[in-house]
Amino acid sequence: MVIFGATGDLTKRKLFPALYNLAKDGHMPSNFAIVGVGRQEMLSDEFRDQMIANLKEFAGTNGDHELIKWFCDRTHYTGGDFNDDKKLFADIKDMLRDVCAANKIPENFFYYMAIPPDLFANVTEKIVANGLGKEEDGKWRRFIFEKPFGHDLDSAKQLNAELLQLLSERQIYRIDHYLGKETVQNLLVFRFGNSIFEPIWNRNFIDHVQITVAEKLGVELRGGYYDSAGALRDMIPNHIFQLVTLTAMEPPVSFDADSVRDEQAKILQAIQPFSPEDALHCAVRGQYDAGTIDERSVPAYRTEEKVAPTSNTETYAALKLAIDNWRWADVPFYVRTGKRLATKHSSIVIQFKKAPFVLFRDTSIERLTTNRIEIHIQPDEGITLHFGAKMPGPVVKMGAVDMDFNYVDHFGEQISTGYERLLFDCMIGDATLFQRADMVESSWRIVTPILDVWQAIPARNFPNYASGSWGPQEADDLLSRDGRKWKNEEPRIDMRRPKQ
Ligand code: BG6
Repeated sequence: MVIFGATGDLTKRKLFPALYNLAKDGHMPSNFAIVGVGRQEMLSDEFRDQMIANLKEFAGTNGDHELIKWFCDRTHYTGGDFNDDKKLFADIKDMLRDVCAANKIPENFFYYMAIPPDLFANVTEKIVANGLGKEEDGKWRRFIFEKPFGHDLDSAKQLNAELLQLLSERQIYRIDHYLGKETVQNLLVFRFGNSIFEPIWNRNFIDHVQITVAEKLGVELRGGYYDSAGALRDMIPNHIFQLVTLTAMEPPVSFDADSVRDEQAKILQAIQPFSPEDALHCAVRGQYDAGTIDERSVPAYRTEEKVAPTSNTETYAALKLAIDNWRWADVPFYVRTGKRLATKHSSIVIQFKKAPFVLFRDTSIERLTTNRIEIHIQPDEGITLHFGAKMPGPVVKMGAVDMDFNYVDHFGEQISTGYERLLFDCMIGDATLFQRADMVESSWRIVTPILDVWQAIPARNFPNYASGSWGPQEADDLLSRDGRKWKNEEPRIDMRRPKQ
């Protein structure tokens, strides 16, 4: 595994911990090695020391000397300028040859591009020019690209075209770490591995769907990137659309990569493009003001590090999507994401239609509870079924109750960064959980008209939500206009588990 951007944040927070977790669970082959590549010049020994410190901090390794030694024996480093240094790529080539020979590793390489997207094509071109990109004699070469993959439809098309001149689609793994999350993967099993949900998973029974990815954190140290991206680009065409497609897709004919991705792609094609009018009425943007989170005062977005003091970048986005196919016609999918919201919570809420009231007309029940399936993605993973039950007593009264399945209770605590499965899949050549070129482009096609309108008409009321709230009033209006309401989540674990 060759990691470009080996001294960066992603490598230390996610990639090394994920590799470590895979090794701990016995999923790593012994004939494996890592070549870290970064801008900094440093010796492999120094890089190993950094890696040990990072594993301690981010993977919680505690005195696991044998495993750490296993990693150190397999980790190497080389540094230089990615842009114009011919020497760097020659060094990488030599290092790969030597490492493979010394450890009897077959020359199968995968490259992880944990680098800014404007370097993707350039670095790939140099890898290929140095003879390290072509698959021949049964040896594979795979390339993982981090998001963002383009910043609008044109740039995504251009990047795809540049990469496809150098590589075949089969070699390209566009990563979206949401697909590495257990509950996201479980969506397919939940829907298609059970017989009771699929028959009601359609417009005849479902009123609407809500998808929320709420974060408590602000932009932290990423103001530079975020201020030019914004919440919509950062989260919606990638993470949120993965959740939309897995929720809405038809059953694939098999679990092979292209069957699953074909069905996801069809949903993206069926999402109605936004006209400029829709962009004004069916899309909401917000930016956080100062406020209080966990009893701590937090600053406004415009005063964050590396953010312009007059910034009009959105830190919150909500959309009403229409999927124009037989299954979902007239069933809106409301999606929202934002930073500095009341709680960290990601979920998919399937809201079913009301039962007819007829039977209860002469009882003291005034309103029937509606049924809801909530798929909790994080922080605690699980599924809740919400339904009405009779309250004990002589008078017919109805109460709303929840039936809860919680991953931890059933399967125990799984320590995961979300990258384990994705790295493993890349090693075994399974691209099911990676985005295909056409999917990336379809996603940008949906959101680019909104970005255009937002750019042409800057927001006049920013900041428009307090940190620690549930976002701007306009997002509530988006649903209340349709007679609906967001399901705002309370932290679940505390409510359900008595403290020991
Ligand atoms: C990243 C975004 O892709 O996902 C971040 O760039 C965001 O802005 C993060 O915070 C959220 O990921 P997770 O796994 O914490 O929900």
